[in-house]
Amino acid sequence: MSKSYEIIDHELDVIVVGAGGAGLRAGFGCAEKGLHTAFLSKVFPTRSHTVAAQGGISAALGNMGEDDWRFHFYDTIKGSDWLGDQDAVEYMCKEAIPAIIELEHYGVPFSRTKEGKIYQRAFGGMTTNYGKGAALRTCAAADRTGHAMLHTLYSQALKHNAEFFIEYFALDLIMSDDGECLGVMAWDLDSGTLHRFRAHQTILATGGYGRTFFSCTSAHTCTGDGNAMVLRAGIPLQDMEFIQFHPTGIYGAGCLITEGVRGEGGYLTNSEGERFMERYAPSAKDLASRDVVSRAMTLEIREGRGVGELKDHIHLNLMHLDPKMIQERLPGIAESSKIFAGVDVTIEPIPVLPTAHYNMGGIPTNYRAEVINPTSKDPNAIVPGLMAIGEAACVSVHGANRLGSNSLLDLVVFGRAAANTAAETVTAGASHRLLVGDDGTKAIDRFDRYRNAKGGTSIAALRDSMQRIMQNHASVFRTGEVLDEGVVKIDECFKQKDDLFLDDRGMIFNTELMETLELDNLLSQAVVSMYSASNREESRGAHAREDFPDRDDDKWHKHTVTRIDENGKVDIGYRPVIMKTLTDDVEMIPLKKRVY
Ligand code: FUM
Repeated sequence: MSKSYEIIDHELDVIVVGAGGAGLRAGFGCAEKGLHTAFLSKVFPTRSHTVAAQGGISAALGNMGEDDWRFHFYDTIKGSDWLGDQDAVEYMCKEAIPAIIELEHYGVPFSRTKEGKIYQRAFGGMTTNYGKGAALRTCAAADRTGHAMLHTLYSQALKHNAEFFIEYFALDLIMSDDGECLGVMAWDLDSGTLHRFRAHQTILATGGYGRTFFSCTSAHTCTGDGNAMVLRAGIPLQDMEFIQFHPTGIYGAGCLITEGVRGEGGYLTNSEGERFMERYAPSAKDLASRDVVSRAMTLEIREGRGVGELKDHIHLNLMHLDPKMIQERLPGIAESSKIFAGVDVTIEPIPVLPTAHYNMGGIPTNYRAEVINPTSKDPNAIVPGLMAIGEAACVSVHGANRLGSNSLLDLVVFGRAAANTAAETVTAGASHRLLVGDDGTKAIDRFDRYRNAKGGTSIAALRDSMQRIMQNHASVFRTGEVLDEGVVKIDECFKQKDDLFLDDRGMIFNTELMETLELDNLLSQAVVSMYSASNREESRGAHAREDFPDRDDDKWHKHTVTRIDENGKVDIGYRPVIMKTLTDDVEMIPLKKRVY
């Protein structure tokens, strides 16, 4: 143990790292089942990025027309471009219905129909009867659904007396020599003290790594800290090449304009005023899945039909919609458009551009939320003591492309699954294993190294380089040449983290040190994403290769699993996609061409 730092020890049954939607749902579920549970969060829980989710949460309730969870299952598999694991997708779509009813009982203030039922809107790729009709499946609280859910889940966590360690930054997992997770090390940002949390289950709910990109809808906090800790533990991440670009980020600012706008009747136009989606997706049009819409917009701009002085963005039109409906169902986007684009949505279009939004890839888990290590002898073997949920995890329910409103669903369904698994595997109050191997020293050594970094590279400059490389080399369209250049450049960036410079401002309120640790986390994820993308020579979902424009199931119907060591050496492997359902309640959907 590093001598110069005092360590404060804590013993728990379960520690949840991250207190957004997934973390809160898992954590209060564990507390409810009598497990001594604590949350570790770098921001106040209600500031977690779930708060920014707008359009809604999917579930085949059928409140506003015909629906069935099997249709939802089909849409999700098709949306995933057949890379989703069918057992996990079945679990999510079936469990969606009780999960929403549960949220309603917890107090989520959903919008209502005239009859008082939960209001549901159309979203991209959501259909009835296996693609034949349009589904109204996305349950909404106006356009602030994530905000409503997060506050409700936080109040449930308070009700069940879970403990909170707020503004604590997780440094690293504590892993035994035989590969069990024994807890996590953390730094209290307020007091500057270092803490060792021992737990029988450590649940990572640390969100995505959107901030590897220059323009994204993600909060500044979305640095994928859990993903990076898993990489440092020698466990690979899965499907990191699949990065979703949301079609409608506000041009310039990047803020999200919900897909719910198109669900309520809004549409995209080019400089000729043409509703161009009719050409790209004749049936689903503006409500095709996100990868399809983002590619169509990019092509329109490339072919000179973008709008604005530079012809470099697209218009989203709502002017034909009833202002009363906008006020009631979409008040947040009316406000954001005014603030960030200076636009009154009732009289003028919103300037929009595809913007990095979501990571389909992440920590490989099974549908019980247990982390698996596909590079171990048994590729389905779990990592004892470790679970992952939410955007940090790759279950994989989203495969190569996530459908809008399946993310909030993923949070609550797999958050609850994690609580159930913890209740099955942990005996409340059981004593902790002796620390065998690492006792947290590795985390503290890394912390200490950065704290005393006196190289020649500025943190802000290195972060800026990384974000521009990702933006330019791993964007909506990719080619082998551009990706290979990206690999060389991102490798170079990764090396520069050994040359960072920090002011000597101690440990307390040292945001520069926290940003350095976050940057280190982002860099490893940027590298594995770029390598994984460069290796996959096909187009599938959000990974669109101009040099390999077709999906190639013979060669590439498989998950990518990618590791990186501390020197930046990358190791890529693959594992099969699960094409079996969990039960006989639904039939497996065989591979077929994906057309909208
Ligand atoms: O467009 C949106 O409201 C985003 C939803 C999502 O990413 O699920």
